[in-house]
This record gives sequence, C-alpha cells and structure tokens, in this order.
Amino acid sequence: MQKFYYIKTYGCQMNVHESEKLAGMLKSLNYEETNNMENADVIVFNTCCIRDAAEQKVLGNIGATKKLKKLNPNLIIAVCGCMAQEDGRKDLIKEKYPYVSIVFGTHNLHKFKDYLIEYNQKKQKIYNIWEKEEEINENVEMYRTSNNNAWVNIMYGCNNFCTYCIVPYVRGRERSRAMDDIVNEVKGLIKDGYKYITLLGQNVNSYGNDFKDGTNFAKLLKTLASLEGDFRIKFMTSHPKDLTEEVINTIATEKKISKVIHLPVQSGSNKILKLMNRNYTVEHYKDLINLIKQRVPNYFISTDIIVGFPNETEKDFNETYNLVKEVNYGGVFAFMYSPRTGTIAEKMENQVPQEIKNQRVNKLLALSKSIIKKQNEQLVGKVLEALVEKRNDNYYEATLDCGKNVILNYDGELSLPTFKNVKITGINKNKLVACLCD
Ligand code: SAH
Ligand code: SF4
Ligand code: F3S
Repeated sequence: MQKFYYIKTYGCQMNVHESEKLAGMLKSLNYEETNNMENADVIVFNTCCIRDAAEQKVLGNIGATKKLKKLNPNLIIAVCGCMAQEDGRKDLIKEKYPYVSIVFGTHNLHKFKDYLIEYNQKKQKIYNIWEKEEEINENVEMYRTSNNNAWVNIMYGCNNFCTYCIVPYVRGRERSRAMDDIVNEVKGLIKDGYKYITLLGQNVNSYGNDFKDGTNFAKLLKTLASLEGDFRIKFMTSHPKDLTEEVINTIATEKKISKVIHLPVQSGSNKILKLMNRNYTVEHYKDLINLIKQRVPNYFISTDIIVGFPNETEKDFNETYNLVKEVNYGGVFAFMYSPRTGTIAEKMENQVPQEIKNQRVNKLLALSKSIIKKQNEQLVGKVLEALVEKRNDNYYEATLDCGKNVILNYDGELSLPTFKNVKITGINKNKLVACLCD
C-alpha cells in the first residue's frame, strides 16, 4: 500500500531547502507527498528557534499531532532542525511529547533515511542529536519543490556570534562547500531549466575563507555568471562587515547576477551595533549602501532590523528609524528582540519592555510600507527584466528580479518560463501592470 509523508517547515530558506533533502530521502524509500497531515504515515517537523514565537508555534503544532497518533498508532512523527538541535530540547520532547518517534538535529539531517529504516524495523524511539558538525555531506538525495527557483547551499554554519543570535549554536561553525561541487550542481540545475538559482549561506560574503587559498564569494559569483544558459543567480544573506567592493562590482557588471542585495543592518545606532557584536559601524554601512546605489543598476536593497535590543533607548531607535528613511529600503523585515537561552544578550541588563518593542516594530513597519508604496509608483514607466512564468486568459504572470509580481498584458504566444524586458504601465489593486518591450 502507498505510504505518504507530510513535512511542515519553519524558519528560513535554509530550512525550506533542507526540507527538500528530507523529501528526497522519503521519496527514495517510496513515500509520496500528501498535503493533508491526517493522511500521512510520516509527519516531519523541520523546526526553527530564532525567536521564542517560532518555538512556541512548533511546540503547539507538535502537540496537535497527539490525537493523530492515537487514531493511528503506526504514525511516525519526526522532529528535526534548529529547535531539535537546541540545548535541552531533545529532553523536553522526550518528556512532554512522548508520541514523537524520531528526533534528530541539524548536524545529522543526512541520516534521516537511516533513522526511518531503523525505526520501521525496531519500532523503538530514536533521539539522536550530534554535538558537533561533520564534514559536508555531498550525497544527499533531493526533491525540489520550488517551480522555477532552485536553492543551492554554498556554506553551512556561522562564526559571527551576534550576541542575540542562536544560529551559531544550532548550526555549528562556518564550512564552505567546494567550488567545483557548487558549480556542478548549478550546471545541472541550468540544464534542468531552473531560471533562478539562489545561493544560501548565513553570511555568503565569507564564502571560501576557510579554504585559505584565495577562494572568495566574488570568484564564485564570476564563475557561475560565466556558465552557459538562460538563468539568474540570487544569493542570501550578506553581512555588512564582509561585503567587499569586489563583490559589489561583480553584482553591478554581471548580467546573470541578481541586483537584489539583502543587507541586514539590525540597528542604526553604533552603541547597539557594538552590543550586538556586529563588527561594523553605521558609517561603514552607509558607505556600502552608497557604493551599491552608485554602481549597481536597478538595485534592490532590503534589510533585517531588531527593535528593543537590551539598552535600546528612544534615541537609538530614532537612529534606526532615520536610517530606514535614508536608505529607502525596498523591504524591511523588522523583528522584536527575543531573548535566546545561552546567548550573551540574554544576560544583558536593561531589557526593553514588550510594549515598547511592539510600538517600535509597528512604527518601522508603517514607515517601510509607505516607502514601498512610493517606490512602486516610481516604477511606473520603467523598463525592467521579468521572468514570465504563467499564462492566463489574456495576460501573463511575471516576476521582477526583486520578487514583485507583475501582470503582463500580452495575448501572444510565449514559451514559458522566459526572461523578457517589460515596461511597467501602472498599478492595479497593489499589483504592478506591464506590457512587453521586445
Ligand atoms: N545570517 C543572517 C540571518 C539570520 S536570522 C544574518 O546575519 O543576517 C534572520 C534574522 O532574524 C536576523 O537578521 C535578525 O534580524 C533576526 N534575529 C535573529 N536572532 C533574533 C532574536 N534573538 N530576536 C529577534 N530577532 C532575531
Ligand atoms: Fe546570527 Fe549573526 Fe550569524 Fe546572522 S551573522 S546567523 S545574525 S550570528
Ligand atoms: Fe533558519 Fe530558524 Fe534555523 S531562521 S537557521 S531555521 S533558527
């Protein structure tokens, strides 16, 4: 009888991509995907612990499977990812969620298939968290789920230890993938027809540092941009302390490199940046932004911001607010600071009350919304490249480099998906409308 799996993914794109690896392993054991959790024989929770809210959501969702396990005692419930890797979480799951069958962490994700086989044979619960990261494993099956976009890991882990962040504790130290392995994977994806290829790393700008042979992110971008084919390379995330002029110039001049730069600033106050251990100043950050604006045609800059970090005063927050205004970001992801166990910031004095965090985050989001509205209006009349992806009655759906959706008024034939230059002609109910240029 056909068996089904259901994967619930939380957190960042790294996790979304890792769920494609989990799916690959399940497929290789002849499980098929179902969109209905209640029909599943295996339910996997690929978890996140970046903020407390993320964890609470995961735990609530795991709790809701108790009744499914009662109805179907053969149901396999697996919990993996960053929250599973976090100190003490394995024991919490053992104690409070005893119907979970398999728990594994980020370092042994590639072993999921073995655990599933073992569980099916022995029917004994498996709790297996590896303390330390291993060599990069190149032989993991994958089942890609994302239409025209394919994700590619270029590095794992993080060395930065920003004082608020749990990622270095649950993802281990920085390890870059060999350039040849990345290039070969990307070549395969181009051949398979993927149009966007997104390179993933916590800090892509430090790619290659661990090889100590001159390999760096700019070199990787140039190599990938020189490959044959009709595709664009995207990447995330960039860290302001490591983004070099060489990388900015490469983005500026290589046609096949996306002009979207996600450059998390976190705060506009030097005092707070220091407490966060971000290793750059607001002045350095602004220099980078100016360089991008001068050199990169059709740039799109977005950012992450944390409000209510310990010791953040109204004055510090206003500096952040003014920076957002000045940079004129295309997108702002603003988060309320959430203390994470084991991090340095958790123990800092002068934690900011929740109410003030709420106010500040709302203020930033309102500002960002008004900036985006203005930017959309300014796009009218511009010619931009778009990926035309889907045909409807007398129009097509397309996506700009920055991810914005465009209604393309055209009723001729196009072989999809294809990159085309489009002219933005207006805005209809928050959607950009365009016509074909060439
Ligand atoms: N490596 C990336 C992103 C990591 S997590 C980077 O360095 O930018 C994504 C975002 O979550 C971070 O940029 C930060 O803004 C936010 N974040 C991380 N830890 C947080 C915490 N404890 N509380 C609130 N937001 C947090
Ligand atoms: Fe976290 Fe900082 Fe590493 Fe990003 S760079 S993952 S924010 S420690
Ligand atoms: Fe990503 Fe969350 Fe882990 S943001 S790296 S899934 S803690």
